[in-house]
Amino acid sequence: MVKFDVWRAVLVGIFLVACMALAGTASATESRPQNDGSILPIPLTTNVDPDRAALGEKLFNDPRLSRGDVFACATCHQLDQGGDDGLARAVTNKGHADIFNTPTVFNSVYNFRQNWAGPFRTLEEQAIGAFTNPRHGNTTPAAAVRKLQRIPEYQIAFKAVYPTDGLTVDNLLNALAVYQKSLITPNAPFDQFPRGDSAAISADEKMGFELFRDHGCISCHLGRNVGGGMFQKVGVHLQYFTDRKTTQADLGRYTATGKEEDKHVFRVPSLRNVEVTAPYFHDGSISTLESAVTTMGKIQLGIDLSSDDVALIVKFLKTLTGEFRGRSLAAGK
Ligand code: HEC
Ligand code: HEC
Repeated sequence: MVKFDVWRAVLVGIFLVACMALAGTASATESRPQNDGSILPIPLTTNVDPDRAALGEKLFNDPRLSRGDVFACATCHQLDQGGDDGLARAVTNKGHADIFNTPTVFNSVYNFRQNWAGPFRTLEEQAIGAFTNPRHGNTTPAAAVRKLQRIPEYQIAFKAVYPTDGLTVDNLLNALAVYQKSLITPNAPFDQFPRGDSAAISADEKMGFELFRDHGCISCHLGRNVGGGMFQKVGVHLQYFTDRKTTQADLGRYTATGKEEDKHVFRVPSLRNVEVTAPYFHDGSISTLESAVTTMGKIQLGIDLSSDDVALIVKFLKTLTGEFRGRSLAAGK
């Protein structure tokens, strides 16, 4: 008898849990009717260590980290310009043309790999790459540390923030990474909508999202960063590179793996704040959002989008522009 009651209790329990789960799903979909959950909102706050982030910010803005004191990280990653430099391709420390477009540093914490071809798994690894690259002057984090050791202000600051070992390569990379983890842009209109502000998105913008979803853009550009979460070939449906003079940059992930199948494979870029990060693509060869969307339709999906559909998709993409320190990134442009 006792046994029977236990089983009845278990069954009732399972029934109740199932009901709660169903109710939960229903209310979640009700509150975000236009998003099937493939795009996740950016949290309103971060929980990074504020002292490390403040030190990282100082370092990020200090040209003394580069060879010859030429470039700060912030020279190319300008936070009031969408987190990039607005150029088609970066200019190196020696004034030469780079082969890559500068991506934004905003929300880079949400990318599964860093850089266009995705060779780096963490922001710390990426920073080593940034120091070593000719664009930063072919220096190393160790050389930067030796320079900073001669600046008393940094010795004191590192000792205060990292009491155990002060100014070291690891702590330099950590401070830069922690600061970059604080560079998130919440509160984009598209993120406000599921939070309950139904006026945040217009009918056109909603239609643009539906086109983006129904045509399958969302199969690659999804998740918290509306991208940044997988590798994909550029030119799935249409050879994109055959009629062009290709550069080392066009080889994509192949440069890291040497595998034939990785030729022209890139990390799918984030579309957050894409409104303010023109020009586009890994080589900055596309100057407008309209042209980026049209090209994507052709080469990734094998479709010719009408100009009306392109305009609606662009309207949706502009709802992904978020805020940094309470101010819309679109405001500075
Ligand atoms: C001369 C311009 C320039 C400077 C200076 C520079 N960067 Fe970059 N940054 C770039 C370019 C170009 C890329 C893309 C490189 C690639 O994809 O191979 C990049 C990529 C990145 C990325 C990856 C973002 C993403 O979406 O994948 C991060 C993070 C970053 N840089 C941080 C830094 C930090 C930290 C510093 C300073 C230590 C720095 N950058 C200095 C131009 C620059
Ligand atoms: C198969 C995966 C895939 C699909 C589907 C796809 N994209 Fe992309 N998207 C990419 C990749 C990879 C890039 C990087 C291209 C490059 O750098 O040369 C990119 C780049 C972009 C860019 C430029 C971003 C920047 O910062 O330079 C935009 C805008 C864009 N896509 C929008 C779209 C839209 C709109 C659709 C649907 C019409 C779409 N994408 C479909 C993978 C995809």
